[in-house]
Amino acid sequence: MTAENEQDIKGLKAAGKVCAQAMKLMMESARPGMTTAELDQIGEEFLKKEGAQSAPRTMYNFPGGTCISIAPVIAHGIPDDHVIQDGELINIDVSAKLGDYYGDTGSSMVVGKSNPEYEKLIEATKNTLMKVLSVAKAGKPLNIIGKTVQQEAARLGYNPIYDLTGHGIGKSLHEKPSSVYNFHKPDDRRPLTEGLVLAIEPFLTTGRGRVVEKSDGWSLKTVDNTIAAQFEHTVIITKNEPIILTVA
Ligand code: CO
Ligand code: CO
Repeated sequence: MTAENEQDIKGLKAAGKVCAQAMKLMMESARPGMTTAELDQIGEEFLKKEGAQSAPRTMYNFPGGTCISIAPVIAHGIPDDHVIQDGELINIDVSAKLGDYYGDTGSSMVVGKSNPEYEKLIEATKNTLMKVLSVAKAGKPLNIIGKTVQQEAARLGYNPIYDLTGHGIGKSLHEKPSSVYNFHKPDDRRPLTEGLVLAIEPFLTTGRGRVVEKSDGWSLKTVDNTIAAQFEHTVIITKNEPIILTVA
């Protein structure tokens, strides 16, 4: 959607905030020894308490309130009886509807014992999102996002995941523009326009940047079982730097 007025901006900010707060709570609650279903419950209960609904559950009948992916799964991981291990690389993705508006945010983290290899990838991915946000301005091509992700990934010694994209969002979880690529695609001539609401989500990996779906019909894992990380913000594009909506 394009945010047209103060009511849109206010509603989008409220939806983004509830997602970011659920994310923060889940990241602070994640402990080795707990199951991903227990962690999911903490997030979904928070959303309910705030009057928000899990977007994947209500829109896609996803079997969880949030997506929790354990490496090498990097997206759409189903919360289940998996016991989180000390030092595991996980990704949490929270998307929700509040009132008429949707928000979507994601973060990767190491639970427990630190791991330099994982943390380097996490920092690189977080910094790539921040770099993208510094260049995504109305009037620029939309693919400045993908071009920047690919450049930063290469500079830092990683690949982007070519199969996973950001997306338009606002009155629904996934809207036009669909496929906000995480790589340079010269024939993508779509522009960034003022007020455009986007979920921007770079994925970086040590592998070759392809994912496959697991037999559960949801989980997407790297094809070569390499590690990957993702960070995601929902933003409103402006003439200057975007308004970040998914802040706690
Ligand atoms: Co997401
Ligand atoms: Co998203």
